[in-house]
Amino acid sequence: MNAGRGEFATRLGFILAAAGSAIGLGNIWKFPYVAGQNGGGAFVIVYLIMVFSIGLSVMLAEFAIGRAAQRNPVGAFAKLKGGAWTGVGYLGVAAGFIILSFYAVVGGWTLAYTVHTMGTLLETSDPKTLGAFFGEFTADPGSSVFYHGLFLAMTMAIVIGGVEKGIERASKFLMPVLLVLLVALCLRAVTLPGGGAGIAFFLTPDFSKIDIDTINAALGQAFFSLSLGMGALLTYGSYLSRQVHLTTAALWVTSLDTSIALLAGFLVLPAVFAFGYDPAAGPGLTFITLPAVFAQMPGGAFFGPLFFGLLSIAALTSAVSLLETAVAYFVDNRGLSRRKATAWAGIIIFALGIPSALSFGALSGQTVAGRTFFDLMDYLASNVMLPLGGIAISVFAGWTIMDRIIDEITADGAHGFPARTIWIWICRIAAPLAITWILVSGL
Ligand code: TRP
Repeated sequence: MNAGRGEFATRLGFILAAAGSAIGLGNIWKFPYVAGQNGGGAFVIVYLIMVFSIGLSVMLAEFAIGRAAQRNPVGAFAKLKGGAWTGVGYLGVAAGFIILSFYAVVGGWTLAYTVHTMGTLLETSDPKTLGAFFGEFTADPGSSVFYHGLFLAMTMAIVIGGVEKGIERASKFLMPVLLVLLVALCLRAVTLPGGGAGIAFFLTPDFSKIDIDTINAALGQAFFSLSLGMGALLTYGSYLSRQVHLTTAALWVTSLDTSIALLAGFLVLPAVFAFGYDPAAGPGLTFITLPAVFAQMPGGAFFGPLFFGLLSIAALTSAVSLLETAVAYFVDNRGLSRRKATAWAGIIIFALGIPSALSFGALSGQTVAGRTFFDLMDYLASNVMLPLGGIAISVFAGWTIMDRIIDEITADGAHGFPARTIWIWICRIAAPLAITWILVSGL
């Protein structure tokens, strides 16, 4: 074991931290509206299939690569194979910088909305007024950069504490809080008069809505939501002791992430239907439609800030895993102290995020191929780097060093691995082919 790198003290702590990485804006902000745009229940079924086949398998591969190498992604690929494979590690760490730079901008919005919903924002339920507020708020350079920085500073405060005293401790506190808030909000939403239509929309599959685009959206959403493809979960796996069963842990994290996405659907869609809004409103669903819902809902002044507080917590624990990947690289490969590594990574990501923070105002006219800087970063990471990383991780685990990875998953035969054959063929064939297909159709 590599002393000084840090290690998760308990299995529960690891599972909560990895679930904290997975559960984020992808589950609560994105999943309900992507489901809303792609046929509700039909999308949910395709999504579940993707998550528990390819998603679960790639997650297991990431955990195993990380624990086998006890390194960040760059160090891990270098140590286990080297050569061109090290490039996969660099791709992952670079993706981490890029994702966090725009993720922290939206994370900042969630903080700001927690504050604003406690103030006067919910005095109106007119989506036009709320839309105008959202537009003005995100366009204001001062507040968007300020909240982006505040969100990053909070992330840094957790990461600087280290694996056990920072990440594990924060996850053990924040994840249960998140779950309680979510259940409370769901109970409120499903008991709203008229909410049943939202539940029906969410649960009734319309198979005519399933087409290439739905399947593509489901696989992309599964990857982003499970934090796969850049080595964030690989890095968490590198802090894990050999006692922990990797298959059980991966199953837990995948199930938790999926349950929270479904709960978010049960929270958002009934509320939206109860007040007659459009479930396919897109990205604005969370920041424009939901405040309108809270403004009209009995107890909304209480549940509104609660919801945005919940969203901030979910985003924060995800951001922690993104920053930790960069920090682990600086610590393992560049010999920096954790403090210095966190400071440098945080500063670089803050700077890289400024053009994204300004993309809704001052820089909204500066576009490349119709994309603002924010959209460009999101596109580059989610549609190019993560799929490439996902293919490389599956091929690496399924072909290049398969025996080593299976020894790691089973702790040299000590732990059972009943899904072994299925896992091998998913990593060897199904995942690379399916992801190549998303990659190509996403371009
Ligand atoms: N999974 C997180 C979410 O759903 C985002 C995230 C955190 C992520 N770490 C990641 C996405 C690594 C891709 C790769 O919001």
